Order: sequence, then C-alpha cells, then structure tokens
Amino acid sequence: MKVLIVGSGGREHAIAWKVAQSKKVDKIYCAPGNGGISEIAECVDIGAMEFDKLVAFAKKEAIDLTIIGMDDPLVGGVVDAFEKEGLRVFGPRKNAAVLEGSKVFSKDLMKKYNIPTAGYDTFTSPEDAIAFLEKNEKYPIVLKADGLALGKGVLICNSLEEAKDGVKSLMLDKQFGSAGDSIVIEEFITGPEVSVLSFVDGKTIKIMTSAQDHKRAKDGDQGLNTGGMGTFSPTPFYTKEADEFCKKYVYQATVDAMRAEGREFKGIIFFGLMLTPDGPRVLEYNARFGDPETQVVLPRMKNDIVEVFEACIDGTLDKIELEFEEDAAVCVVLASDGYPEKYEKGFEIKGLDNFKDKDGYYVFHAGTKMADGKIVTNGGRVLGVTAKGADLKAARANAYEATKWVDFDNKYMRNDIGKAIDRI
Ligand code: AMP
Ligand code: GLY
Repeated sequence: MKVLIVGSGGREHAIAWKVAQSKKVDKIYCAPGNGGISEIAECVDIGAMEFDKLVAFAKKEAIDLTIIGMDDPLVGGVVDAFEKEGLRVFGPRKNAAVLEGSKVFSKDLMKKYNIPTAGYDTFTSPEDAIAFLEKNEKYPIVLKADGLALGKGVLICNSLEEAKDGVKSLMLDKQFGSAGDSIVIEEFITGPEVSVLSFVDGKTIKIMTSAQDHKRAKDGDQGLNTGGMGTFSPTPFYTKEADEFCKKYVYQATVDAMRAEGREFKGIIFFGLMLTPDGPRVLEYNARFGDPETQVVLPRMKNDIVEVFEACIDGTLDKIELEFEEDAAVCVVLASDGYPEKYEKGFEIKGLDNFKDKDGYYVFHAGTKMADGKIVTNGGRVLGVTAKGADLKAARANAYEATKWVDFDNKYMRNDIGKAIDRI
C-alpha cells in the first residue's frame, strides 16, 4: 500500500513511525511533514489546508489510504473532499468533526444525550453573556470560544471584571476571529485531567489506553498554556472505576449520539476528561489523535495500525482486539526557550543518531526541518523524546536520560513530566 499522512507535528511523526511498521505498507508520503518524518516518508510540499492539491496528489500517486492528523483540515471538510473523488481516507467527515470544531455543538450534544459534562450556557450576543455574568455569583467561571483557537480559546476567570474582559476579547475584539462568534460559559470543575483516545467506525468504539498531558510551559503547572510539554501513559489517575463509569455513560453514548444526529463518526475520538470528586466529566472532545499523547500511546500499541484504520473505514472495528503493552511510556518535549511566546529557530540539532537502534527510545520531531543536509530547529516544540520502562518511574528516568542525548541552542524542557504520579 501507499499511504499519505497529512500534518507536520510530533503526532504525525509518531503516526508515520507506526504506519512504517505495518506489513501492508510499501511507501509513505507526508504533507507537509518535517525533518524527522523525511527519514521514513517522502515529504511533499503541500499544506494541510490545500485540499485540491492534496486530492490531486493522492490521485496522481494512486494513494491507497490517507490519514489526517490535524484538526483544522478535518473541521474544514478534507475527508469529504477525498471521498468525493472516491479516495480512501481515515478521519471524520465535516459533519462529524464538528464534535471538536464547535464547543456549542458538543455541549448541546452532551446535554441532549445525558453525557456527563460541566453545566453551561451558550451565547451569541456579548450583551446577553454580560447580563448572565452580572447575575452569576460563583467564581472562577470558564469562558470558551465556540470554534478552533489553537487550544487557547478557554479563559478561566476569577472575577466578574475578568469575565467581562474575557467576553470582550472573545466576542467583540475577536481575539480568535469567528471562533468567538458564539461562546460557552461553563461551571468551573476540578480534578485530574486525563486523555483517552479511541478508534471509532461509526458504530463501534475501541478505547486505546489512557494518557496524561502537561499543558503549562513551566514546572509545577506554572506559566502559559502550550500545545503540551510532555505526556505519560497509562495514567494511574484513570482508575478501573473511572473506566467503568466512562464505558457506561460516555464512550458508546457519544458514538450513538452522533449516529442518532445523522453525523456518523469514523476516526479518532479523543476524550478530554476531568476526574472530579463527583465522577468523570467530559471537558472536551477532539476529533483526532492528541499531540503529544500519540507519542506515548502508539509506542505501546501492539496492533498493526493500518489494519485498525481500515477497519474504521470499513465499519468492521468489532472484529479487532486492540492490544497494548503492559509497560509505561513517558514523552518529554524539548522546546525552544521562550515558547509559547517568542523564540528563535534555525539552530542545528546534534545527537539525533544516539537514538538509532535503541530499543524503547524514540525521538519524534515536531518543529524541525532539513537545511543544507542538517536538521535544524523550526518551531516552538522541537522534539518529543519518548522512552518506555517497566513502570512509569522507570519510563520517566529513561526519558530524562535520553533528553541528554540531543542538544541544540536554547533547548528548554519541563523537569517534572509524570511527577504527579509520585503523589498517588
Ligand atoms: P479545553 O480546550 O476545553 O480542554 O480546555 C482547556 C483547559 O482549560 C482544560 O485542559 C482545563 O485545564 C481547563 N478547563 C476547561 N474547562 C474547564 C472547566 N469547566 N473547569 C475547569 N477547568 C476547565
Ligand atoms: N495534547 C492535547 C491535544 O492534542 O489537544
């Protein structure tokens, strides 16, 4: 088979790495890809939002399967564009990707189908939102832009003043453009946050394994929100009890709700869960793999991933048994100092060869590119260093050891990825 992967981050590198192990695959392309992906796939200079060019490329090269990694093209309808031309593609159609693309949609879906989530109201006018806030007495309160906002459209407001400013920046100043045309105002809830990824074929859902992300830039969950500074899998916070609860009230319920709405979902559903004292609540849905969750989940997966992708497309996921290794994995993101604000790029990355032939150690590229035969930094999140171990402690020690094998100017990382597990 010839496979095309769409995207350019660490997530897509991990997907490409996993696809490369499939016995069914002869050749991998990636659009646009990055420096690390170019070692296992042929990178094609087409952007993820250039649907016409992607479709034309897939036709010209007779691609057998296209896998969409990123949210923007999914929400924009890239799967529909491929299907219209009779091409095989993995991911939800536009009418299903709305599960991630619109918070108003996903909250209303959860309410209608009794899927546990935080209480909320939705607003299309800033005056109504402010009138609501003026009557509200409970702080903090959470404001969410309806549409995609690079993970930054959520504001946790500690006072009426802050919340009014939030409404202004989302709805009037349009900080995130049309993503703020509607907003959700949500009850603030607390508890550990876990990520659960699943494969879905429209009817059947198969849960992968649990993972946990560290979104803040600095140690101790301080600093600004980022795309994710590191992950571990499995997470002991996701107990058997939480799993049973979600199997009963969340996972299949979501798939059935989408079908009942005429929006059959095929692809990945990523459940962002908060484990509150009252039980798990869905914080958000994503319609794709997580980044950097994928970098710890896929190295533990035993299945041939291409067979699973195909089963999702064909509606035969019920025949697949997903299998994960018993061991644990930790991913530490090596970023450019200053991320997520201002940072420099273009520095040579040294030591990447140290990962060659090392079992259980992986270096997934995010912001890198090839320049004059060298791999250089090309983004805020540069690399994801993943290591496995018999348990989380061992995996963490291995991952931090491996972070020393690579170096580049302005290298920055958190030093406490996975540390929270020491407390339980
Ligand atoms: P989301 O994009 O909806 O996952 O929100 C981003 C982050 O904001 C989450 O990972 C949480 O840390 C936080 N958050 C979102 N919704 C709530 C809520 N209702 N209560 C407390 N924190 C929240
Ligand atoms: N790591 C969070 C996400 O991919 O949205």
